Amino acid sequence: MVDYRAGTWWSDRATFAVAQRDNFDGHCVLPTRISAISLTHAIVLVGGQGTRLRPLTATRPKPMMPLVDRPFVAHQLAHLARHGLTDVVFSCGYRPDALESFFGDGSGYDVRLQYVVDPSPLGTAGAVANAFDLLGAVDDVLILNGDILTDLDLDALWQAHSDADAAATVALTPVEDPSAYGLVRLRDDLSVAEFVEKPTPDQLIPGEPYRINAGTYVLSRAVIAGIPRGKSISIEREIFPGIADRHALFGFTSDAYWRDIGTPQSYLDAHYDVLGDRVLASQTPSNTYLGPGSVIATTARIEGYSTIGADSVVEGGARVDASIVGAGCRIGENAQLRGCILGEGVQVGAGVELDGLVVIGDGARIASSTRIVGPAFVDAGDVSSVLLTNTAVGGAA
Ligand code: GTP
Repeated sequence: MVDYRAGTWWSDRATFAVAQRDNFDGHCVLPTRISAISLTHAIVLVGGQGTRLRPLTATRPKPMMPLVDRPFVAHQLAHLARHGLTDVVFSCGYRPDALESFFGDGSGYDVRLQYVVDPSPLGTAGAVANAFDLLGAVDDVLILNGDILTDLDLDALWQAHSDADAAATVALTPVEDPSAYGLVRLRDDLSVAEFVEKPTPDQLIPGEPYRINAGTYVLSRAVIAGIPRGKSISIEREIFPGIADRHALFGFTSDAYWRDIGTPQSYLDAHYDVLGDRVLASQTPSNTYLGPGSVIATTARIEGYSTIGADSVVEGGARVDASIVGAGCRIGENAQLRGCILGEGVQVGAGVELDGLVVIGDGARIASSTRIVGPAFVDAGDVSSVLLTNTAVGGAA
């Protein structure tokens, strides 16, 4: 067995029998600050339940889901700091303690970080209003959904907002198929004409550009001050349409890298993108990451686009291919994993086969020789000797 005490990187279809190699003891290479602009304050919405990522989010808020070598939202903080933002409020709701205990005052991330917790679920606009008092006397605030991985040029976004003298500006990303998103139509002056939530084919105009709400906004102080307090309100559905009617909401279209990590497939794809260096803001030395203290048997194979969490063990003959293995897992002898996501402390028995988007919650135990064909969702508890397809399984804890 090879014991990796520091987080390490490995290139291309490694066979760990010959795992004597360079030791990168660092993490993703996050470029240093690239600009200083007038936009200095941000609210990051991190309070949602993350239901589409259950059972992984049963034990942690979605922004604390690991993305390669750090919590997802750490990538966002680095992006904000690089663009010169100095003050960030995390607008929390579900499981706020996990965020505060990890990030503290933000000093390790080059920002001043504060926290506000929704007293009850307030929706995206209600949460922004609730964070308002912590903002200080700033004119414009960046609002960011806490599940967006992007290379969006925040300087250009703010410049567009400023040039248009907009009350609010929403970042837009082009997509081929808008049916799962909110389609945004613009007027010739780039002000927002209308939102069409999850458009059906008959609502689409042949040849029109499909631009969707990218979950990043600049809101003026006046807009935030106008949001009713203490109520559950959605920015997209209840605040933006009124501003659009006044021709004061503008769209800023960017084809920079963008992904919403809110589903298991998109969460997995975000790993592939970071490990494949498709995200400029989060470059990696190679396409496989081994967490500190992970122990890989010399006859195990960790194929490309995989991450092995801290203190996990992969036993002899096992093969992990394009999968995410959380911290403290044990992958038994000759087990085969392909395109899977394992939470923390998962025990995978000898000879198990997990094939294709099998999502396993923290602490689950998969008995030897079990075969699971995804998509399948396995809750905490024991699973044994079953063949599952497109299934949700809740084992006894
Ligand atoms: P699903 O339950 O899977 O839809 O996930 P979600 O509700 O966590 O995410 P969604 O995409 O619906 O919300 C976009 C962003 O807003 C996410 O980063 C959420 O954390 C955040 N968010 C959603 N609702 C609230 C809320 O009521 N309060 C706060 N503070 N944040 C919220």
